[in-house]
Amino acid sequence: MKGNLLIKNASELVTCSGFEAKSGSEMSDLHVILDGAVVVEEGIIVAVGKTEDILKVYDESKYEVIDASGKAVLPGFVDSHTHFVFGGYRAEEFNWRLRGDSYMDIMERGGGIINSVKATREASKEELLAVGKKRLNSMLAFGVTTVEGKSGYGLDFDTEIKQLEVMEELDKNHPVDIVRTFLGAHAVPKDYKGKEDEYIDYIIKEVLPVVKERNLAEFCDIFCEKNVFTVEQSRTLLSKAKELGMKVKIHADEIVQLGGAELAAELGAASADHLLQASDKGIEDMAKAKVVSTLLPCTAFSLREHFARGREMIDKGCSVALATDFNPGSCFTESIPLVFALACLQMRLTIEEAITALTINGAAAVGRAESIGSIDAGKKGDMVILEFPSYKYIPYHVAVSTVETVIKNGEVVFNK
Ligand code: NIG
Ligand code: FE
Repeated sequence: MKGNLLIKNASELVTCSGFEAKSGSEMSDLHVILDGAVVVEEGIIVAVGKTEDILKVYDESKYEVIDASGKAVLPGFVDSHTHFVFGGYRAEEFNWRLRGDSYMDIMERGGGIINSVKATREASKEELLAVGKKRLNSMLAFGVTTVEGKSGYGLDFDTEIKQLEVMEELDKNHPVDIVRTFLGAHAVPKDYKGKEDEYIDYIIKEVLPVVKERNLAEFCDIFCEKNVFTVEQSRTLLSKAKELGMKVKIHADEIVQLGGAELAAELGAASADHLLQASDKGIEDMAKAKVVSTLLPCTAFSLREHFARGREMIDKGCSVALATDFNPGSCFTESIPLVFALACLQMRLTIEEAITALTINGAAAVGRAESIGSIDAGKKGDMVILEFPSYKYIPYHVAVSTVETVIKNGEVVFNK
């Protein structure tokens, strides 16, 4: 039968056990089982324990067996913030930034997100499906088994829907699970410059109801930023999305401290993302309201900005998640190893905290902590096997993938 798998003799079975986001000091406990085994039946984990104990109860001959001697096994990674469906590229903007232009300067000149909007509007669905598939393959090789993907390179009805439909189709045909987020308020389209309230109104009246009705997205997100959308406009849109029964996220306090973190707490958002400029109060509010603080160190790195205060957020009781923010502008990388390297070496997370941030807390950021993000009975059989005996090799092998095998729903879907 499909998805019947028994992994045994793992030098470390890093379970990350739990069914909700972990905060503060809880992020340090990975619940590691030495010489561990895990049993998956029809894609779902049914037993986790010491190899010796598991083999007393489960008959190996009934399963596909993987001997993970000398290897660490972890939950599949959850990349909880990406913009992976887009047309065109912006390599020349990267070069402008190297010469000193800022991300916002380029955006204000009509480049940036608007540049990708033009290319995404022009791209056919087939083209987006083809590039989307390639990008998912690359993520899978890094050990990602669930990814969040946002629209937001359409900024008009047809293209926003097209991006979400592309993700819906990729989700059906690719092993990586995709959580869809509607980001119609990612930038102000040219014809609405100076009429931002009208654009929010258009999104609320014309696009959001269709997204909801056709179940095209679970989450609604907005770029709350100086010269993009205000806190008030963000509150208006996200409150409406909540009324419709959607969950919400915010691109918050990335470049200017506007109060996006505080708004995320006020609205009970699933996550607030970026947070480079989050205020002390914003950090306290997120911790109290149990909003996941999603940090994107590759973006800070690519924009040559200082990093978000990850260490402090955990010390103050936040639930921190880490993600790539893969997109064609501010951060063109899907590299999970680089996320680990920067989180540990620059943001001063411990290895254990970084792993929690990319597994169970990433799962919580996409509202799926009860079904993915840890190796617990009842969850999906989504796991990675490293080529090394300990999880500690992940950031130690700086920016190089240590993932040897990826398992999705109890089946091997990638082997190095
Ligand atoms: O999360 N900050 C806003 N949105 C994206 C960047 C999108 C782009 O530059 O194309 C982000 O960094
Ligand atoms: Fe983003």
